[in-house]
Order: sequence, then C-alpha cells, then structure tokens
Amino acid sequence: MQSLLLNLGQHSYEILIGQGLLKNTGSYLKQLTTTKKVIVVSNPTIFSLYGPTVTDSLSKSGFEVITHLVPDGEEYKNIEHTMKIIDTCIDNKVERNSVLIALGGGVIGDLAGFVSAIYQRGTPFVQIPTTLLAQVDSSVGGKVAVNHPQGKNMIGAFHQPKLVIADTNTLDTLDIRDYNSGLGEVVKYGIIYDYSFFTWLEDNTADIINKSSLALAKIIYESCRIKSNIVEQDEKETGLRAILNLGHTFGHAIETISGYGTYRHGEAVIMGTIAAGYLAMELSLLSEPEFNRIINLYKKLNIFRPFPDIPTEDVYKAMLTDKKVAAQKLTFILPKGLGNYAIVNDIEKEKVLKAINLAQNNKS
Ligand SMILES: NC(=O)c1ccc[n+]([C@@H]2O[C@H](COP(=O)([O-])OP(=O)(O)OC[C@H]3O[C@@H](n4cnc5c(N)ncnc54)[C@H](O)[C@@H]3O)[C@@H](O)[C@H]2O)c1
Repeated sequence: MQSLLLNLGQHSYEILIGQGLLKNTGSYLKQLTTTKKVIVVSNPTIFSLYGPTVTDSLSKSGFEVITHLVPDGEEYKNIEHTMKIIDTCIDNKVERNSVLIALGGGVIGDLAGFVSAIYQRGTPFVQIPTTLLAQVDSSVGGKVAVNHPQGKNMIGAFHQPKLVIADTNTLDTLDIRDYNSGLGEVVKYGIIYDYSFFTWLEDNTADIINKSSLALAKIIYESCRIKSNIVEQDEKETGLRAILNLGHTFGHAIETISGYGTYRHGEAVIMGTIAAGYLAMELSLLSEPEFNRIINLYKKLNIFRPFPDIPTEDVYKAMLTDKKVAAQKLTFILPKGLGNYAIVNDIEKEKVLKAINLAQNNKS
C-alpha cells in the first residue's frame, strides 16, 4: 500500500492507494474517530459489488452502519437527492460527529460530500473512490457539489474528507468507457504540470490500457501527488488550483448542452482539452508538434474523442453561464508547451469560436 499526505494544516488527511484495501475499512476508520454511527452512501451498481465488504468490515470494527443508495447516474447529483440523504440522516439520528462514507465514483463522492458539508453545518466524511476518475481526481481536494439544471456543480462547498481509500482492485469491474474517462484526467496532469509524467504516459500506454497493477499504482499515485501539491498551495481556488480546469470551460459547456449523462466527465474534458490546444496554438503558447503529441497520446490510449457538432455559438453561450465566469469574461486554462500552463483572460470571441470549429473538424 502507498500513502500520501495532503497537507492542509488541521484539515490534513491521508490518501491510501493499494490493492484489497476495502476489507480494512473498519480498522482505518477506527483510527480516525470514536463515533459509533456511520452512514454509507452509494448506488445500487457499486453497492452490489463492494457494499458487503465495506459494511462487514465496519460492523466487525464495532460501527453501527446505515446505508443510503442513490439511483445510478449524473442526473441524480442534485438537490432532490441531497435532501433524500439528509432525510435518511435525520430519520436515523445521524449526529454531527457521525462519519459519512462515500462509496462510489465522482457522482457519489460529490453528492455525499456535499451532504456532509451542510448537514448540521458539517460532518466528517471519508471517500472510498471506485472509479479511476474518482481515484485520480474527484475524491481528493475537498470540492463537493451538486448540479443545477442550468449548470454543472452550481451548488457546492469546499469540505475536505478525513481519509481517502483508493482500492485499485475496484477498477477490475469498471466499464472500459469509465476507465477511459478517468484517463482523460490523468493525461491532464501531465499536460499542465509535469512533463516527465507526460513522457512516462507516452512510454507506457500498453501497460495503462491493460491495467497492469504497477501502471495503475503509478498513475493514481502521481495524479494524487500532483493534485495534492496544487491543492496545498491553493485550497479554495483563488489562483493556481484553477489550472486543474484545463479543458473544463469547453467541457462543462458540452456536458450542459448535451444533457447530463450523455458524455462521461472525462470524455468532455478530453474534447475540451483538444479545443484548448487549438486556442493555445492560436495564441502561440503551444507548438504544432506539441499539440500533435497530445493528440497522439489520446489516440495511443484509445481515448481520443472528437468535439461534438454543437453550433459554436451555443457552446460559447453555455461557457458564459459557467460558475467560474466573472463579469462575463471567460478565463481559459491553456497548455503552455507540455508540462506547463497559462491562465488567459480577454480572448476575442472569434478566436474561441475558431478553436471550437477546428476541434470539431478534427475527427482524427
Ligand atoms: N469534486 C471534484 O473535484 C471533481 C473532479 C472531477 C470530476 N468530478 C465529478 O465526478 C463525476 C464523474 O465521476 P465518475 O466519472 O466517477 O462517474 P460516476 O460516479 O457516474 O461513475 C461512473 C459509472 O461507473 C459505475 N461504477 C463506479 N465504480 C464502479 C466499479 N468499481 N465497478 C463497476 N462500476 C462502477 C457507476 O455506478 C457509474 O455508472 C462528475 O459529476 C464530475 O463533475 C468532481
């Protein structure tokens, strides 16, 4: 097992990465809390696979376990299901020091994390991410949120977990499309922050596709290391943390227009990163050979996704409703060479539309 500390003073926590960790959930939790009551939030798909291992382990360690299952899908990451989990908490007398456990992918982590941020002004929570995307990104860093019909993650908070348990064995049952979506976020870290990680990805595509245990451990550890490093410098996203949103300004617009659930989050990030790459070339931040290396890496990993044929004006309009837009000005995180970033404001609308257009025409 590998362990990483995300150092945030009194909000610091460990990220555990390894095989077969779920069966030890109870003993990990015992080291964190004296409470007896825990509530496990999951969905039926994940709970049928991993719920018994987690709840048995908790019961054996003396915890009283309550479970709440949310239907499977991004469309349930909303206020209605926030309230349903809160109802379960109230009905079962869940207290302020009871621990809420999110067992699932990014949807469950964001939703359950949001409940734990607001229920009784904040309860402790533990993330048990079961998708690659959640293990490399969403379970780390404390951003929790639910969607509004007009925008993704519009209602949320910063609320750090007490512990993250990333059991890589759970990825065995993951659908290939969801695995590939997680790889979209993995590649993102190399593009914006770590050139040597980018080249390692280029050199190890076969092992990554085959989910070799060494490759999995490496991509999860490196991704969490990079994300922790960024979050430690800027927990509340007043500056640097925004770079994690590479591809997200375009990507969120795609998700909002297409309807939640049409594309996986990581797929939208890949499409958005391709558009961001064209914009970066237009602004002379990225050379054509560098851009081609990004496209080739996506292709070698079988995760290239063309930008959907949505009218460019509609994409632009949706980008303006993104929650990160200030005074109707779009901010873009763009690759600056490979392994570095630029944060750019005030780009002419024509350049943005051109980048979308070029991305749409690249069917590779
Ligand atoms: N908070 C953050 O910092 C952050 C960062 C990135 C993404 N996100 C959010 O994460 C969400 C996407 O997360 P996701 O990609 O994990 O999607 P997801 O949670 O919807 O999971 C994808 C699918 O895989 C299933 N699943 C989960 N684990 C499984 C397993 N081990 N075996 C078999 N099936 C399994 C789920 O039931 C679901 O059908 C989005 O809502 C996005 O906004 C949040």
